[in-house]
Amino acid sequence: MTTLEDAPAGRLGNLFRTTAFKLSFAYLVVFATFALLALGYVAWNASRALDDQMVSTIEAEINGLSEQYKVGGLRRLISAVERRAGEPGASLYLVTNAAGERIVGNIDALPTGLIVDPGQTEANYARIGGAQNLEHRAIMQIFVLPGGFRLLVGRDVAERDRLRAVIGRTFGSSVGLVMVLGVIGTWFIASRVLRRVDAMTETTRRIMAGDLDGRLAVAGTGDELDRLAHNLNAMLERIGELMRGLRDVSDNIAHDLKTPLTRLRNRAEEALRTAETPDALRAAMEGVIEESDGLIRIFNALLMIARLEGVNAREDFQTFDVAAVVQAVAELYEPLASEQGLALQVETEGAPLTLRGSRELIGQALANLIDNAVKYGGPSGEIRLSAARVGDTVRLGVADSGPGIPSEARGRVLDRFVRLEEARSRPGFGLGLSLVNAVVRLHQGTLALEDHAPGLSVVITLPAGDPTGG
Ligand SMILES: Nc1ncnc2c1ncn2[C@@H]1O[C@H](COP(=O)(O)OP(=O)(O)OP(=O)(O)O)[C@@H](O)[C@H]1O
Ligand SMILES: [Mg+2]
Repeated sequence: MTTLEDAPAGRLGNLFRTTAFKLSFAYLVVFATFALLALGYVAWNASRALDDQMVSTIEAEINGLSEQYKVGGLRRLISAVERRAGEPGASLYLVTNAAGERIVGNIDALPTGLIVDPGQTEANYARIGGAQNLEHRAIMQIFVLPGGFRLLVGRDVAERDRLRAVIGRTFGSSVGLVMVLGVIGTWFIASRVLRRVDAMTETTRRIMAGDLDGRLAVAGTGDELDRLAHNLNAMLERIGELMRGLRDVSDNIAHDLKTPLTRLRNRAEEALRTAETPDALRAAMEGVIEESDGLIRIFNALLMIARLEGVNAREDFQTFDVAAVVQAVAELYEPLASEQGLALQVETEGAPLTLRGSRELIGQALANLIDNAVKYGGPSGEIRLSAARVGDTVRLGVADSGPGIPSEARGRVLDRFVRLEEARSRPGFGLGLSLVNAVVRLHQGTLALEDHAPGLSVVITLPAGDPTGG
């Protein structure tokens, strides 16, 4: 058996809890209040205007009658009243003697004692020729004339009361209409917004359940929900990118550590099997350690690249002089270069070259490039290191005069673990340029490999930091 509190109540409860509903409801209340106030003001004003009009009609009549009184005394007044009282209409007249007895007029009866007090009043009355009870109502003005005579001029209010009733009914139905329209509008807006939010919730639930390629629907209206969906989609895209990067790194680590790990293992096994003298064993152990060092370097490089592609790597950015970093790295590599018969030239223009970024990472990137130049730029010649400010950017260059990289291979060498055929005789893992690329991307710069004819010229362009050091 179903009860009243079944499913629909739950759904309604949901609706009541939504922001859209609360907002629309608040608007409804505010709107209804204003509508009520405005309508009430109009009704009140209309009824006052009616009263005013009646009072001024009465005043005009009184003016006319007092003219008559001034010209011809009571006699003239009585005859004027008699004439006017005979005409049909809402105007009422009465002249009485001091005892309150009617001399002339179209009023038959009044509440007792009313005629005694002069002034303006609203009271019931009976009209001559009508019913005996006091069923009509009128606004009246009473005057005392010399000799105790009384003059009453009035106007029936039936017309006014009918108009008032009409205004009252209109007022009631208008308020009702506003309420109904408001409720319908509220329900419409709330349920429409709710439907879109529900769809978004459903999509995010699917994404959480593992459908990482799922994206929120964008309605194309450019409203808040669209912007939210857009940003969430961009966020999902970024998360997906990071996850792919992470997966690539772990795949690469697994794949590329396999060979050196197997080599390490074989070397150790072979040493156990064949080395008979302590010296042979020692040599084998040294080989094992060398192999392990290579593994550790690969690990470090891969982890560093992964960290750079992570989200928070920009946290420890600082403002520094990149010319000083170039000088320091050059000094560090000077001995190694001259050992290889290469001359290291440094040109820095317009010092200080302010940059916003990571001093250590820029230094590491330059070191990798110089390392390559020393490794592949031989057997003789020079390595040119340059740093200069060009417009809003800082341009860093490392150029050698070796064989260079053929243009079709220049895009490829930036990938992880890519080493060209000619480089195989040299130590290395093919991670140096990948790290440089990651550092440049982190600093929102660009990396270009160019022909130095002969040799390779690597140019890094980075957005310059605020020279005031801000
Ligand atoms: N200055 C250069 N001249 C000629 N070839 C270069 C030069 N720099 C890099 N290369 C080529 O690009 C490849 C990738 O360079 P990268 O620095 O990424 O790796 P690596 O130097 O081989 O190893 P690692 O830097 O990890 O020790 C190199 O193996 C080499 O074939
Ligand atoms: Mg290298």
